[in-house]
Amino acid sequence: MRIAIAALLALPLLAAAEPYPKGDPVVGRKLAAAADCAKCHSERVGGDGSRMYTRPERKVKNPRQLLTQIGVCNTQLNTGWFPEDEEHVAAFLNRDYYRFK
Ligand code: HEC
Repeated sequence: MRIAIAALLALPLLAAAEPYPKGDPVVGRKLAAAADCAKCHSERVGGDGSRMYTRPERKVKNPRQLLTQIGVCNTQLNTGWFPEDEEHVAAFLNRDYYRFK
């Protein structure tokens, strides 16, 4: 009984800790690699391009902005990603770089 109540209380916390509930970071990682997202970023910030996501002056400050920016960059590449795909990529970038809760 006590365990059941604890589990119920934990549910909303779990939901709040996941900004992209439908995004799968494993799928997102593959999509981002296949689309060559890093190439263009690397031309600007050097290295493997991931500094674009970690630089101190980075633009993206919350989960919504991350989705928006992925949409903007994605449009330049013409990947034909669906909104679900963008959510996968957001989940990947969030897991590895942004860490929004
Ligand atoms: C044509 C070049 C180009 C391509 C291709 C590109 N990006 Fe970008 N991306 C940029 C530039 C330039 C910025 C920095 C924008 C700024 O500072 O205002 C950026 C910034 C970002 C940011 C925000 C970084 C921050 O400041 O927090 C994300 C997230 C991002 N890109 C994701 C992607 C993804 C995902 C892809 C692959 C679908 C991609 N980009 C492909 C040029 C590109």
